[in-house]
Amino acid sequence: MRVLGIETSCDETGVALVGGAVGGDGRRATVLGEALFSQAPLHRPHGGVVPELAARDHIVRLAPMLDKALGGRAPGDIDAVAYTAGPGLIGPLMSGAMFAHGLALTLGAPALGVHHLEAHLLSPRLAGRGRAPPEFPFVALLVSGGHTELYLAEAVGRYELLGRTLDDAAGEAFDKTARLLGLDYPGGPPLARLAEGGNPDRYKLPRPMLKQGGLDFSFSGLKTHAATLFREAQVARDDRARADFARAFEEAVTDTLTVKCRRALERTQTKTLVVAGGVSANRRLRDKLRALESGGATVHFPEQDLCTDNGVMVAYAGFVRLALGCAPDTRPDVRPRWPLSELPPPPSAA
Ligand code: KG4
Ligand code: ZN
Repeated sequence: MRVLGIETSCDETGVALVGGAVGGDGRRATVLGEALFSQAPLHRPHGGVVPELAARDHIVRLAPMLDKALGGRAPGDIDAVAYTAGPGLIGPLMSGAMFAHGLALTLGAPALGVHHLEAHLLSPRLAGRGRAPPEFPFVALLVSGGHTELYLAEAVGRYELLGRTLDDAAGEAFDKTARLLGLDYPGGPPLARLAEGGNPDRYKLPRPMLKQGGLDFSFSGLKTHAATLFREAQVARDDRARADFARAFEEAVTDTLTVKCRRALERTQTKTLVVAGGVSANRRLRDKLRALESGGATVHFPEQDLCTDNGVMVAYAGFVRLALGCAPDTRPDVRPRWPLSELPPPPSAA
C-alpha cells in the first residue's frame, strides 16, 4: 500500500509518499518520495504565522509539491491520501483537507484525516530510520511551537495524558525569547546556535514547576523572567552577553523538560521515552535526555529532518491507521482543537 501524506497545519507545506506491505503494525513502511516547503520567510516580517497567508500559500504550493513527492511515479500509484485534520490553524488545515479530498476523489482512492500529534509521536517508528523502533508502551514528550505534553502511549490510538503546559509551549517560549535577542522567526534554531558558544553559569533563570510534584509545565513565568533579566542586565549590549543569555535560557527549558521526562518514566514504570515535535531537534535537549539511558531507559527521537512538521509523518500515520483497519473519511473534516486523548483507537490494536 502506498499512502500520500499532506501536512498543512501551520506554516510548513509537506507532501510525501510512503509505502510498504500491510500487515503487522505498518512498521515496514519506507519513504518513497517527499517534498517540504517552509513558509518561514513569508511570515518573518510579521514576527509569527499569519493564518490567512499560510492557508493561501499552501494552496499554491501543493500541486507542484505533489509532482515532486511522486518523483516520476504516476498519481495512480497512490492507494490512499492522508492529511492532517488537526489540531492546527483552521484555514491552513482546510487547504490541506480540500486538496486531499479533491485528489482522492479524482483517483478513486480513500482519504483519511490524521491527528498531527499522533503523526509526530509515531514518526520514530518509521522503518529504516535510525535504530530499532520504540515498542509500546512508551512515554511520549511532544514538544513543539503549540504543544508541550507528556503522554503514556499504550498502543496506536491509546494515549493517556500525563501532563501538559498550563500556558506557553516550550517552542513558543523559545520563539518569544529569540525575538528579544533580535533573532528571526522561528527562533528556536537560531537561539540554539547562539547558545552553543555561551556560558551556562553567567545568568540564572528559574526551572519552572519542578518543586510541584506533578508532570505539568509552565513556561510563561520563565519567559517573563527572561525578558526582565534581559532588560536589567542590558544583555543586548554585546555579543558575549547575548550568547550567555541564550545558553541560560536553553539550559532552563531543557533541564525542566528532562526532569519531567525522568519523573514520567518513574511514575509509569516505563523504560522507553519517545520525544517528538520541533523542539526535539534541540541538541542540548537530546544530550540531556540521552543521559537518562544510563538509568536504564531507552530514548528515541525522530530523524533530525522529521522533528519539525513534514509530510512523511502524516503519510506514515495514515499508513499505520489504514493498516490497522481504520475506515476512511466520508467527507473532509478538520478539527483545529483536538485533544490527542480523544482520538479513537483503530479497530485492531498494535
Ligand atoms: O513541530 P513544529 O515544526 O511545529 C508545531 O507543530 O509547532 O515545531 C516548531 C517549533 C518552533 O517553536 C521552533 O522554534 C522550535 O520548534 N524548534 C526548536 C528547534 N528547532 C525547532 N526549538 C529549540 N531548538 C531547536 N533546535
Ligand atoms: Zn508539529
